Amino acid sequence: MQLHLGTQIGNAVDTIRANGPAMLADAASTKNLRVLATLLGPAYRGLIRKLAKGADGTEMPLDHSAFFDWRYTREFPEITRLYEAAKSSQWNATVDIDWSRPVDPFDTVHPLLPDSFHPASTLPVWRRMTDRERAAQRHDLLAWFLSQFLHGEQGALFAAAQVTESVPWLDAKLFGSTQVVDEGRHVEVFHAYLTQKLGRIFEINDNLYVVIDALMTDSRWDVKFLGMQIMIEGLALGAFGTIRRLTADPTLRDILKLVITDEARHVHYGVLSLERFYLSELTERERRDREDLAFELSILLRNRFLMHEIYDEHFGHALSRNAWDRIILESDLMAFYRESMFRRIVPNLKRSGLLSDRIRPRYAELGLLRWESEKSAPDLSAADLLD
Ligand SMILES: [Fe+2]
Ligand SMILES: [Fe+2]
Repeated sequence: MQLHLGTQIGNAVDTIRANGPAMLADAASTKNLRVLATLLGPAYRGLIRKLAKGADGTEMPLDHSAFFDWRYTREFPEITRLYEAAKSSQWNATVDIDWSRPVDPFDTVHPLLPDSFHPASTLPVWRRMTDRERAAQRHDLLAWFLSQFLHGEQGALFAAAQVTESVPWLDAKLFGSTQVVDEGRHVEVFHAYLTQKLGRIFEINDNLYVVIDALMTDSRWDVKFLGMQIMIEGLALGAFGTIRRLTADPTLRDILKLVITDEARHVHYGVLSLERFYLSELTERERRDREDLAFELSILLRNRFLMHEIYDEHFGHALSRNAWDRIILESDLMAFYRESMFRRIVPNLKRSGLLSDRIRPRYAELGLLRWESEKSAPDLSAADLLD
């Protein structure tokens, strides 16, 4: 009977893989049903009901417990050190960034982004554009990226607040309080740049919405940590670094430098906490679920940021959506993005105990194991990340 049920479930997963929305097909790759179940509700809300599209706001019912510590024991000296560093590294976006510098998207001497960064720059339609039209495209692409950062930062702000409530160690709660301030400042600074300098904010990408919804609504604090501090912040560190290297706008470079310095502490904090929790507190089955979830999130983050908002607005007339997806996935931009992201994520998963021999072949198939011996967050300084 059990075998029969198992076969039925396996068939259902195969059906989703073959026919479901592309994102769910990706998310069914480990065939771990508990992991798939955590993504189904968010996928329904994000991809089918599209709760964040055209809305002024989205209400998200939550399901986690807060933990009060009445002993106030300081028992995590590595996090105490991070807390001290956080307190003395605070900055004020209003005065520490020179906002008086104008940003001209049509400046070809100091372009917001190089032409080659735009995945459409290899298309015939690009060659037919005027210089001004190309500059407008680069502007929109940057606004799209930074808008997704802005929405991700709002998710990070709330996740940091939730983790601060739920994490069991006092030192982690104290550090978490600084992260809440940091993430609030990141929301402030990206919003200010988008509104004051670029004059445009894109809505949240559906797939990013699904990932954020899944992490916000999960009741397990460590899953919020894993998704937000290791995966999304790892992605952000890679993307921030990439844009900072490529943009010629000094205001944006200054912003990203300050944000990267904060994010380096957050990832460090995430790895220290998860390392302790995963190596000592979880059963093997619980650890495996986290390992599978991290792998599913890796695939989603790798494959699902296809910039359909840019396609719909500018390129829908020129090529099919499938052709667009292929161009994006094969573009230099995405290769660079994936490389910089996984270089940050994979060593941290390994250090947190989520890269066992059981899952390694899956990462190997995607060519991601080559990053495993890079430094993990506790061994990286902000200066390393800015290099
Ligand atoms: Fe942030
Ligand atoms: Fe962060």
